[in-house]
Amino acid sequence: MKLEALPVIRGNYYLENYDEQYASYDWSEAEKNFSWSETGKVNLAYEAIDRHAENFRKNKVALYYRDGIRNEKYTFKEMKDQSNKAGNVLKTHANVEKGDRVFIFMPRCPELYFSVLGAIKLGAIIGPLFEAFMEGAVKDRLEDSEAKVLITTPELLDRVPVDQLPALKSIVLIGEDIKEEGIYIDFRKRMEEASKQLEIEWVDLSDGLILHYTSGSTGKPKGVLHVHKAMVQHAQTAKWVLDLKEDDVYWCTADPGWVTGTSYGIFGPWLNGVSNVIVGGRFNPETWYKMIEEYGVTVWYSAPTAFRMLMGAGDEVIKKFDLSSLRHILSVGEPLNPEVIKWGMKVFGLRIHDTWWMTETGAQLICNYPSMEIKPGSMGKPVPGVKAAIVDDQGNELPPNRMGNLAIKKGWPSMMAAIWNNPQKYESYFMPGDWYVSGDSAYMDEEGYFWFQGRVDDVIMTSGERVGPFEVESKLLEHPAVAEAGVIGKPDPVRGEIIKAFVALMDGYEASDELIEDIRVFVKKGLAAHAAPREIEFRDKLPKTRSGKIMRRVLKAWELELPTGDLSTMED
Ligand code: PRX
Repeated sequence: MKLEALPVIRGNYYLENYDEQYASYDWSEAEKNFSWSETGKVNLAYEAIDRHAENFRKNKVALYYRDGIRNEKYTFKEMKDQSNKAGNVLKTHANVEKGDRVFIFMPRCPELYFSVLGAIKLGAIIGPLFEAFMEGAVKDRLEDSEAKVLITTPELLDRVPVDQLPALKSIVLIGEDIKEEGIYIDFRKRMEEASKQLEIEWVDLSDGLILHYTSGSTGKPKGVLHVHKAMVQHAQTAKWVLDLKEDDVYWCTADPGWVTGTSYGIFGPWLNGVSNVIVGGRFNPETWYKMIEEYGVTVWYSAPTAFRMLMGAGDEVIKKFDLSSLRHILSVGEPLNPEVIKWGMKVFGLRIHDTWWMTETGAQLICNYPSMEIKPGSMGKPVPGVKAAIVDDQGNELPPNRMGNLAIKKGWPSMMAAIWNNPQKYESYFMPGDWYVSGDSAYMDEEGYFWFQGRVDDVIMTSGERVGPFEVESKLLEHPAVAEAGVIGKPDPVRGEIIKAFVALMDGYEASDELIEDIRVFVKKGLAAHAAPREIEFRDKLPKTRSGKIMRRVLKAWELELPTGDLSTMED
């Protein structure tokens, strides 16, 4: 696709001389931006909030919060006070100490951000959970991490199987009319009396900061641990890639239950002292455009599915709003189709910049920078300080234009530090040559641009959310009618992929639309709405290996009407 001549971006940018900077960059340069490089006192929450509350940004708005009911804003000074209070509530009433896992399970609201920052100030490891998670998903995560404290709302409490979670010592409830008995603490009441003075727990760069659970193709979701050192890359990529400057108003649409919503919904912008817009509630094209207009959003970070849904809503609705404040738009999570970039140019007069990274990588690694020519369909080039390559299954680097494993040389600042309680899984990400292997297949062209081709494993990306087929299959098998289940991602023009389940029924059950709906609702209620199969197809029998593993690649071939390939391991 040819891009018409348009200014690459309105405003200037940091990586003006990408090639030169890439050739010589060393992360120790970014470390000099932090006071801890001199004082030795490390805490991400201090760098993101308190530091600004003590400098010229004191009265600058840090957080604009908006949902259908609430419309609030907080300066950096107010964020410092509120997060100190939240820290005191957690310390005094829930005995939170350094290293404790504090989970947060609730919809976006200012209190979520106060508590996340307050818990980090105490040196706790935070674990944000997406509000759509149902009981099974919540239980798996709290159990595996042995969370000591959960911060949630009364509405979500019935999805928390408290009596099955012996490590859970306190539940902090944010809502009205809370009864403080047993392990329950009334957040609002305790905030009122809490002090604004809090002594920050200074930690080491290698101390735990955040646990994000994410799915692979086998087993339950795994806890990806990031440490305070990640802030170096959060802060630096927010400059290079998001292009954040003092006067920007920034909006990242991702929920903090996913890594984008923390690395770039909390840390990146605030480490740079930038005003951050948080919008709660559901996706709605009009509301979204209205937010851009009202707040004068200049830098906007979202995902291909959202852009495709906006595209689907038509261009008429855009005309009702003045979106001229926008100067930079970015995307993450799934392949960004050239059509979407074309649409973005038409309606915003701007190119949407793709960025590639993963929960495990903690921050952006391969991106289209404001300062360089983007190639629609390509994820861009690695950030300075990051070596990316395409390697074969033995870890040998492949020449340009050859498809293989997208791999990154170990050692960038925000690389995951561990998989919680699972050192073997952690090791399995690495290959000889110190390569971190992403699980994505890609190729690199002669100019060093990387092109995404697909997942090497069976992980499904639906609406930008990563879903492990195993988790869905396990839940399906709990349904009384289901004898066998296999789950795949089926290509979808809006959502990237949708979840499709193939199911063999138990004797005595008849296929029917009611049964399909019943199974769907069962998964939805047990896991989460986004994990429920949109399509269910019944088959008498599913293809299995002789060891009994469902052969998802055969299911995929059925679905796409492709040849099924080598069936020598199939049971009969
Ligand atoms: O397959 C890649 C896809 O999302 C996976 C990582 O998912 P998750 O850990 O949930 O993180 C998503 C947001 C950081 C990757 O292995 N992915 C991410 N970004 C892109 C992408 N696929 C294509 N293009 C991208 N820009």
